Amino acid sequence: MNIEELHNRVESGIASVKTIEDLKGFKLVLLGRKGLFAEYLDGLKSLNKEERKDFGREINSLKSETEGRLKGLEDHFAEEERKREQERSWIDITMPGKIPLTGRKHPITQTFDEIIRIFSSLGFSVAEGPEVETEHYNFEALNIPKDHPARDMQDTFYIEPGIVLRTHTSPMQIRVMESQLPPVRVIVPGAVYRCDHDVSHTPMFHQVEGLLVDKGVRFSDLKGILTVFIHEMFGPDTPVRFRPSYFPFTEPSAEIDIGCVICAGDGCRLCKETGWLEILGSGMVHPQVLRGVGYDPEEVSGFAFGMGVERIAMLRFGIDDIRQFYYHDTRFLSQF
Ligand code: DAH
Repeated sequence: MNIEELHNRVESGIASVKTIEDLKGFKLVLLGRKGLFAEYLDGLKSLNKEERKDFGREINSLKSETEGRLKGLEDHFAEEERKREQERSWIDITMPGKIPLTGRKHPITQTFDEIIRIFSSLGFSVAEGPEVETEHYNFEALNIPKDHPARDMQDTFYIEPGIVLRTHTSPMQIRVMESQLPPVRVIVPGAVYRCDHDVSHTPMFHQVEGLLVDKGVRFSDLKGILTVFIHEMFGPDTPVRFRPSYFPFTEPSAEIDIGCVICAGDGCRLCKETGWLEILGSGMVHPQVLRGVGYDPEEVSGFAFGMGVERIAMLRFGIDDIRQFYYHDTRFLSQF
């Protein structure tokens, strides 16, 4: 029995171990059930009692020494692997963090919210209605006769004969009055559609309609409520002007201007050198319209108004191209 040879094979084996895989393979060759040590221990059987004792002791001591060295190698490889893993997953906690992108309300929605907040505080409730509307509600019931220019195909999107995309929120005046008796005090936010597209027009835009009907409502009520609204919306020092105008569904009618937000009245490109900006259409509800919904114009009277939300948002935020609202460019939208 050549213990010397066993020794040498252990030494050269250990010297050739470079990886954890080498180690596993070598361990099997050495210490496995059919490994070298097993073979040597098996060989003891053929020796006499005395030799068996001596060789047995030597083999076993070499075996436990070898096991210890292999365990040491195993620990070494495990430690190396742990270090590599640490390298891979290392984070520099002093680096600045990433700020997550947060969404925010679209400037049109913000403007809607503000308009609704102001009118709610004045006792108005909010109603919404259909964007696909009949010609009857969009025009006839509002005293807009068949030959009125607003009914020209150039302005109105027709779905089919008699059915249109509403060109304004005013048809909701009729729907609201048909569904309830006076007093009425309502605003109607919503999308409207017109066949028009340039720096100040988009084919879809938004309006807020307002309607107040009760006993004894006068033009001074219209002036008071809308002046309060404008001062809330644009600031208490904003100049307000009521200018005679014409709408088929109101009589008398007025357009409301505010002092130009850019030049403060001196005259500039935005206000076309007038010093004033139109922001609202309004008027006393036409008796014909009241009669049409079954109200008695001798008993009740009211005023109505309508405003373009994009226009108000443009003036509030200083935006000069209406199309910006609909490019969905977050660099633009995140400013508001
Ligand atoms: N509907 C009108 C438009 O789209 C705006 C308007 C004017 C609404 C006068 C009203 C009003 O309620 O009284 O241009």
